[in-house]
Amino acid sequence: MNDILKAIETRSSTRGYTDQKPTKEQMDALLNAALQAPTAANRQEIHISVVDGSDPILAEIEKERTKGAVPPHNFYYEAPVVMILSGDTAFHWSAVDAGIAVENICLAAESLGLGSLIIGCIRDALSGEKKEYFAKALHFPEGYAYQVAVAVGTKAVTKEPHTYDREKNISWV
Ligand SMILES: Cc1cc2nc3c(=O)[nH]c(=O)nc-3n(C[C@H](O)[C@H](O)[C@H](O)COP(=O)(O)O)c2cc1C
Repeated sequence: MNDILKAIETRSSTRGYTDQKPTKEQMDALLNAALQAPTAANRQEIHISVVDGSDPILAEIEKERTKGAVPPHNFYYEAPVVMILSGDTAFHWSAVDAGIAVENICLAAESLGLGSLIIGCIRDALSGEKKEYFAKALHFPEGYAYQVAVAVGTKAVTKEPHTYDREKNISWV
């Protein structure tokens, strides 16, 4: 099996990280993988806010997400890096483009032996009444909004990839 198919097959969501940060070379590889993703009309509009896991903005997002309730874990599982992808709200392919870019990040992370977790649960927090505040704090370009996020780092826990049902999900037409 080639390396790409192997990374697709072995990737799974990582919900627990050590405090070891990705190296600069690893971060460059992940960011390049995101920017090498295709975008509709080659617009290349997806913006990536790279946030250190110790940055207080993550706790602020968590507080807004949970509205003060104490969850059993935070949304990024103590990952050393969280990347927040934003897109142009006036371009109707931004959600798709961000989805493709985020999977490129996940597969690149897997190929480097790193863990990753796609994060959708902060959407309401970043789209609610504090939307403008978070957009500014996260350096979103003007007119941009959150699309998806991804945590990356060294795995502290492992999980088997999900199983699937070919009969249910595939039709041969
Ligand atoms: C758009 C999207 C949003 C997701 N949001 C979250 C999230 O907020 N928190 C979380 O723990 N997992 C999240 N996940 C991960 C999924 O739960 C996970 O991919 C799914 O359970 C399959 O498991 P696997 O990634 O290990 O194959 C998200 C995945 C996608 C594609």
